[in-house]
Amino acid sequence: MDLAKYQQSFLKYLEQQDFNREPKNLYAPVDYILQLGGKRLRPILTLIACDAMTNSFSEALPAAMAVETFHNFTLVHDDIMDEAPLRRGKETVHHKWDVNTGILSGDAMLILAYQYFENYEPIVFQKLAKLFSKTALEVCDGQQLDVDFETRNDVTIEEYIKMITLKTSVLVAAALKMGAIVANSSETEADHLYDFGLNLGIAFQLQDDYLDTFGNPETFGKQIGGDIIENKKTYLYLKCLEVANNEDKEKLQFFFNQKLEDNSIKIDEVTRIFERNDIPNLIQGLIQKYTEESFEHLHKLNISESAKQNLIGFGKYLMTRKV
Ligand code: IPE
Ligand code: IPE
Ligand code: MG
Ligand code: MG
Ligand code: MG
Repeated sequence: MDLAKYQQSFLKYLEQQDFNREPKNLYAPVDYILQLGGKRLRPILTLIACDAMTNSFSEALPAAMAVETFHNFTLVHDDIMDEAPLRRGKETVHHKWDVNTGILSGDAMLILAYQYFENYEPIVFQKLAKLFSKTALEVCDGQQLDVDFETRNDVTIEEYIKMITLKTSVLVAAALKMGAIVANSSETEADHLYDFGLNLGIAFQLQDDYLDTFGNPETFGKQIGGDIIENKKTYLYLKCLEVANNEDKEKLQFFFNQKLEDNSIKIDEVTRIFERNDIPNLIQGLIQKYTEESFEHLHKLNISESAKQNLIGFGKYLMTRKV
């Protein structure tokens, strides 16, 4: 699978962007977070999608940049909301600067994201902007539900899947569909790609939730146990409540109704409860299920076999990722 060519091409385009602007305190954090690395999954998907349709992808670079800029904006605000100290192995924006800086630099990034659509002619511009606005609002819906769930004790797995679809999957799906829009492909083709992305995005967020507890702190780049600290109602927690005996269930509920100063005992105990209830295996099974479901949508696509293999390879890589 040749992901490297998409990534290199995107990074080159990113380097050409100049965020060395005044006022410094507004744009330095924009530059910081965008240069901090990250996997660049969403822009790569935009490029792969366009390439699959037209056998070229440089025309999709501005759209890919819009997606990555928007994604990084959501991370800056998400880290404020989740009180996260670490991102990609470095200090989060609101830790390095302060919360107000994170809010305004994030706002600027949202606008900057939209500006990249100005590179397209009116019909494509309108399609991109329309999909993007719908998607951005859905991400807000998902983020609000994620926060609401922290203090709710009756969240269902179905509600959780809906929440992660909104906060994460719709952007993965839209990243793909934007590649198809730039390629001027039919609505039907674009929607098959969208549905592929929707399922893949669910698998992706499940893996993110798994790694938040079970990732390697040396390489994961985020604070391990952050979701436990914040009482996030992830699949790990919800599934555990479903399968655990009363003692574990009560313990889990006890911990998830506290906000503590020192979280090391809470993280340790909760992790052990998850482990002895086989939750790591159960979540991996669900990740596999959503990944396989995503591949089903690829069969409906009228693209070359090698383009399909590219997308399948991408999905398989996501399933086994450690960061
Ligand atoms: C993090 O996304 C936010 C989620 C939706 C889980 P990524 O894991 O794609 O973050 P980077 O861009 O690679 O750092
Ligand atoms: C992030 O979910 C979703 C968005 C940023 C919209 P998380 O809160 O799980 O993402 P990480 O783990 O901080 O990257
Ligand atoms: Mg977070
Ligand atoms: Mg969050
Ligand atoms: Mg997470």
